[in-house]
Amino acid sequence: MRILIDSKGKKYPVTDEDLHTNWGYIKKEDIALSSDGDVLETHMGHKFTVIRANLNDYIDLMERKCSIILPKDVGIINAYTGLGYGQKVVEAGTGSGATALYFANIVGPDGEVFTYEVREDFAQIAGKNIHEFGQENVTVKNQDIKEGIDESSVDLVFLDLPQPWDVVEHAVNSLKVGGYLAAYDPYIEQVITLNKVLKKYGFSELKTLECILREMEIKTKGTRPKTRMTGHTGYLTFARLL
Ligand SMILES: C[S@@+](CC[C@H](N)C(=O)[O-])C[C@H]1O[C@@H](n2cnc3c(N)ncnc32)[C@H](O)[C@@H]1O
Repeated sequence: MRILIDSKGKKYPVTDEDLHTNWGYIKKEDIALSSDGDVLETHMGHKFTVIRANLNDYIDLMERKCSIILPKDVGIINAYTGLGYGQKVVEAGTGSGATALYFANIVGPDGEVFTYEVREDFAQIAGKNIHEFGQENVTVKNQDIKEGIDESSVDLVFLDLPQPWDVVEHAVNSLKVGGYLAAYDPYIEQVITLNKVLKKYGFSELKTLECILREMEIKTKGTRPKTRMTGHTGYLTFARLL
């Protein structure tokens, strides 16, 4: 996907239509003749650069039907589970496919991501999003993960669904020894129930954390944290199968 992006990060996908923005329009003929790296100006003189969308650009612009896990939380999941090239991931639910795309990007062409989504309409949208980004190492399964996990020798089972504790037994049968279960839960009550079940199944290295991210505002007058910030997103729980 090619996009038009301005110096503040405002982005639009390139289509075969004129681009209309709050800062004026660019004709479709000018967009069609442009190459990556070109700078195009709206009729009001606002500049946009033509670039290839990276993963974050693509996720910002793709069709979404439910909330996605933010980069601050995805980064922590990757780091705490040591996710890397060539690994096998199972996740549920897929939603619009954002987490599946992040995982697929990390495990690379020699790795695999199997993502379970109970809703057919969501599975279809996610499949389209993943295909359009060109990620070939993801399999979207329109299945209820509570009925079982088909894959074995899995490095990471990641759960973003209302009752992750119902999937723990399947995760035990699917994970390789040393693999991780990670879960994203908005509510602390979910964390408490999950924790009890993880202990019952003998998981090790149990850890739950919340990532609070503060962005800085750098101005001539002074530098300080921004007044507005994302508050709570979700608690991240990690457990290792030994
Ligand atoms: C919040 S969304 C997941 C978003 C995704 N992690 C992302 O960042 O794009 C939760 C999804 O879980 C799905 N879901 C709920 N229970 C499920 C189950 N038992 N098996 C598979 N998917 C399920 C829902 O339909 C919904 O699409």
